[in-house]
Amino acid sequence: KILIIDFGSQVTQLIARRVRDAGVFSEVYPYDVSEEFVRNYGASGVILSGSHNSTLEGDSPRAPQAVFELGVPVLGICYGMQTMAAQLGGKVENGLVREFGYAEVRARNHTSLLNGINDFVTHEGHGMLKVWMSHGDKVLEMPEGFKLMASTESCPIAGMADEDRKFYAVQWHPEVTHTVQGKAMLGRFVHEICGCKSDWNMPDYISEAVEKIREQVGTDEVILGLSGGVDSSVAAALIHRAIGDQLTCVFVDHGLLRLNEGEMVMDMFAKNLGVKVIRVDATDQFMGHLAGVTDPEQKRKIIGREFVEVFQAESARLPSAKWLAQGTIYPDVIESAGKGKKGQTIKSHHNVGGLPETMKLQLLEPLRELFKDEVRKLGVALGLPYEMVYRHPFPGPGLGVRILGEVKKEYADLLRRADAIFIEELRNTPYEAVVVPGFDQDGVPRNWYEATSQAFAVFLPVKSVGVMGDGRTYDYVVALRAVQTQDFMTAHWAHLPHALLGKVSNRIINEVRGLNRVVYDISGKPPATIEWE
Ligand code: XMP
Repeated sequence: KILIIDFGSQVTQLIARRVRDAGVFSEVYPYDVSEEFVRNYGASGVILSGSHNSTLEGDSPRAPQAVFELGVPVLGICYGMQTMAAQLGGKVENGLVREFGYAEVRARNHTSLLNGINDFVTHEGHGMLKVWMSHGDKVLEMPEGFKLMASTESCPIAGMADEDRKFYAVQWHPEVTHTVQGKAMLGRFVHEICGCKSDWNMPDYISEAVEKIREQVGTDEVILGLSGGVDSSVAAALIHRAIGDQLTCVFVDHGLLRLNEGEMVMDMFAKNLGVKVIRVDATDQFMGHLAGVTDPEQKRKIIGREFVEVFQAESARLPSAKWLAQGTIYPDVIESAGKGKKGQTIKSHHNVGGLPETMKLQLLEPLRELFKDEVRKLGVALGLPYEMVYRHPFPGPGLGVRILGEVKKEYADLLRRADAIFIEELRNTPYEAVVVPGFDQDGVPRNWYEATSQAFAVFLPVKSVGVMGDGRTYDYVVALRAVQTQDFMTAHWAHLPHALLGKVSNRIINEVRGLNRVVYDISGKPPATIEWE
């Protein structure tokens, strides 16, 4: 196993993730673990992370010296390189210019880490790597025993290696995807240099996570707010695997869920997995408080506040519960890390956001170290249905922000049915991808649902005139929205086939009495947002 020493970089978990991708078990520990901990850990190799600190500051963090005395390979990344240099007798200097972003480094001296994995070769025959850099300080003098491993114009010592002791260090970040050979470098380090086999996988992850949860909570009881979304669902399945009936889930139906969502959640958890789920139908309470409210932010606030109220009332009936479980995942942790020294601040999950401290519950967040796609894989490995685990994201306030203006139960009922038809047709329409023969076809979407990142219907509370049979109609409008995006920060509207759009429109108007017009949203983000409110 690989020990990752964290100096507080925002991307430390990415290192762990890449090592996991290489099939090797790794754990992240803060730099201030004891020397003894490091000696007894049993690491086959150690990776030192980056940091926003400078080794030139008096009290900046150092790796436990034991790291360099274990006799196992060590890889220093960015700050990890600088502290390695400083701790082993080299020199670090304050760079005059900060180097940030794309850089090309020249590999030197045929080290076993970089030899032969160039991105391109220059006219002079130098092997070059395309990497991502982010640093101010740099190594000025290498410690004794090291040789140059890589260089750039502005950073002559961009990589160094002591191949006898198997110490390697790079100034760039191999863990980010912008470093083209990053995955290959880390794979080489853990497999060839540390000698780890690719024998760690999701079932191993589950048994380790289960052990950890059992250790953490002992015989205590745990409550979890189940929303039906991927994260809370996977957290519920994992915690249930660990502690069975010590877990109680509270599923609040605010009346703004998708069609049959409540039944689906109950079937999946209560019926199939045998999880204790308390289902609270709070539709009337939510609708009551939303009556007459048209401002989107106001609506979000009300939905959030009522959610907390209902959840609290339910948990008051479980006075023996000592833990509150949440499906917080790693991107949530970074997003909210802010100025926190080691990125430890905890984001309040939007659904259970702002639960008062008086609840006196400890937080249990078993997915804190995982990325979304890993959470999905974990869900499938835990036996959750693939379709559920790979669903599009759904906002916490649900249909509340997809009914423009005032929210009414009548509107929600119409919207739910239109939305279900749209989603069903997206799932049923094959995606005609151009597949290049001989190329890896993994990840090619099978249908238009998989080919879009988020798709839904929006209810417009305006009436327009139509004609059906011999009669005139005067009914509401729905807009369809489908987008493609990597990160939800920017998005393109999806170029859905006209035949698909036509079929969805026909079905909605024919099957949902009360709607007589369907429009398609062709706005990108920016300037529009994905949701309409
Ligand atoms: P926008 O509309 O800002 O949406 O382009 C970006 C992503 O965020 C989701 N979203 C929300 N999720 N509570 C949530 O939990 C909210 O209030 C909320 N508003 C937007 C949206 O569905 C999209 O995936």
